[in-house]
Amino acid sequence: MGKAVRPETKAGMGSEELKRQAGEFAVRFVEPGMVVGLGHGSTAIYAVRLLATKVKTGELHGIVGVPCSRAVEEEATRLGIPLTALEERLEVDLTIDGADEVSPSLDVIKGGGGALLREKVVAQASKREVIVVDESKLTPVLGRGPLPVEVIPFGWKTHLPFLQELGAQATLRLAADGVPSVTDQGNLILDCIFAGGIREPHSVAAALDARAGIVGHGLFLNLVTDVVVATHTGIRHYTGRVDGGRAW
Ligand code: A5P
Repeated sequence: MGKAVRPETKAGMGSEELKRQAGEFAVRFVEPGMVVGLGHGSTAIYAVRLLATKVKTGELHGIVGVPCSRAVEEEATRLGIPLTALEERLEVDLTIDGADEVSPSLDVIKGGGGALLREKVVAQASKREVIVVDESKLTPVLGRGPLPVEVIPFGWKTHLPFLQELGAQATLRLAADGVPSVTDQGNLILDCIFAGGIREPHSVAAALDARAGIVGHGLFLNLVTDVVVATHTGIRHYTGRVDGGRAW
């Protein structure tokens, strides 16, 4: 169940401050010697930075990070966090990552930053998957925004009618310069809008998982163990795989 553990948090903060609070709060779960998944995005980066500080001071000695993207790998290297790869350490003790949407059952949509596939591989290998968000990410039904679907470039357009059948309007994600956005795996992303939200996330996930050419999607179902939500009235920490129930 959620409980406000930092009621002193002041009203009127911008979401950047809330992101910082959420990201940094989660670092308290990290213990010396742990293998730590380093999430991608503007919220998780606050956890990465605080981890780096604690590595430097020796408070978190012996930790090694598993980055969820090339960008995080570069940043963590620059900050001096020792890194390892999943090929070396098959199990991650704890991952701290962001999300685009969080449902009451603690299922989430990820991939706004394009790192969904590596993020899911790391999440699956993690004993504890801690999601850090500001309160704007809470939603009663997933699918308020786009669901990212990662596809190999070969035959990518063939997925458009398939996704339409599933109830989604899919758009190829473009980079700032107008060319297709390419993931760390060299794949493309289709951002899928489901009118009215995703009412049956498990069946949508199963259909996407079964389709050749689709290599990942942003529905992280039954994978999250903790959600840290920074709100204007305090930090809330929800725990447990809720499996159809409601955490909030
Ligand atoms: C990266 O691919 C994503 O899954 C991010 O974790 C997610 O988009 C949340 O990012 P922000 O913390 O930047 O909102």
